[in-house]
Amino acid sequence: MHISIIGTGYIGSVTGACFADMGHHVIFVGRDQKKLDLIRAGKSPIFEPGLDQLLTKNRKNIETATDLSETVQRTDLTFICVGTPPKKDGSSDLSQVEVVSKTIGKSLGSHTKYHTIITKSTVLPGTAEDFIIPLLEKESGKKASVDFGISSNPEFLKEGTAVEDFFHTDRVVIGVQDQRTREILETLYSPLNVPIFTTTIRTSEMIKFASNAFLATKISFANEIGNLCKASGIDSYDVFTGVGLDTRINPKFFRSGLGFGGSCFPKDVNALIAHARSKGIDPIILHSVIETNEDQPRRMIDLLKKHLDPKGHTIGILGLAFKPDTDDIRESRAIPVIRLLLQAGAKVSVYDPEAMGNFRELFPDISYAVSGLEVLASDAVLIITEWKEFESLDYHGKLVIDGRRIEKALREAAVYEGMCW
Ligand code: UDX
Repeated sequence: MHISIIGTGYIGSVTGACFADMGHHVIFVGRDQKKLDLIRAGKSPIFEPGLDQLLTKNRKNIETATDLSETVQRTDLTFICVGTPPKKDGSSDLSQVEVVSKTIGKSLGSHTKYHTIITKSTVLPGTAEDFIIPLLEKESGKKASVDFGISSNPEFLKEGTAVEDFFHTDRVVIGVQDQRTREILETLYSPLNVPIFTTTIRTSEMIKFASNAFLATKISFANEIGNLCKASGIDSYDVFTGVGLDTRINPKFFRSGLGFGGSCFPKDVNALIAHARSKGIDPIILHSVIETNEDQPRRMIDLLKKHLDPKGHTIGILGLAFKPDTDDIRESRAIPVIRLLLQAGAKVSVYDPEAMGNFRELFPDISYAVSGLEVLASDAVLIITEWKEFESLDYHGKLVIDGRRIEKALREAAVYEGMCW
């Protein structure tokens, strides 16, 4: 098939490269010429393991373009993969979705071939029906699900393993309202040989939010019980190994510690809270998920203060990315931890294998070390991200507060405090 991918961020670049690898002809459409040039050169515009190789290998199946309207005319399917950043009240900013929907609509007006528009961007339940479809219909003068196809197809890709997640996902979720679109999407995904769940568009949009909200809840639950374990002299890792053996519960996403960051969990839970409020519902559990998460960095500083007053001391930070194998610092727990340290009068020395460039824009005045080893020379060390290379540092004689459980630090440090163990 001929596929347009609108957006060259995480979702767009991974989805497009993977479809190209499945043998489809993919045209990436974006506004950022630098990113398009990289893609054309077979290079990934984001830090994501395996993506460079996939783009290089499939260069013959890949094109780039800036003219969305013309690209829609040349393709069968258009995937909307633009950002939906959070607004101040937690709800999603749909301005990019609006602009592309209008352009696609105008293009559809003069399109003779059947075309299908699929939303991969994370949008709240009802967005396709109440916002995207009316825009497409108004601009094209055509009817959705009759003259053109419309679908919601949320992504469940984790940064750092996104390519692997695409090909080996637990499930593909497809939201449709007509048989023809259903068949097109099911045919597209059938080579993956994974379960496909087809439902209504509104339900599909909700599945994405419910999935992320559940995973975030599981982590905050692990942290709340983990804090209690810590206060009771119990290792929460052992507790969740035991709990996770219950197949009704499952052992994954049960790592307690410093809490969750990234571009999805905090944003999606807050968007769901705003959505619930707009329906007159007070989402008590979701509020607590965020509250527990926001409290973990403060707890880390309290653990440090048990052993050392940060004022006037140099505190080392191992890891700045919101998780390993990415340079992404969005909502990273390193941000509140470092803010609290600076407020307490500490000097801060940081190291991350990939995320220092991004972090420097946010905190230009802290000290950036060249290695984890340099950070270890600080008066105390806080472990924020579980990068593999931190497992081989020498922690002997150090004061370590560990937010992610590096076993070697646990064994070797002179003074060691785990967050929830
Ligand atoms: C998440 C979802 O997993 C993915 O399905 C969705 O489509 C996008 O959002 P991502 O944000 O890339 O993916 O990272 P993920 O691996 O889910 O981790 C998010 C945060 O949770 C990280 O800060 C991580 O450190 C934290 N986490 C994860 C925990 O604290 N404990 C865990 O057990 C798992």
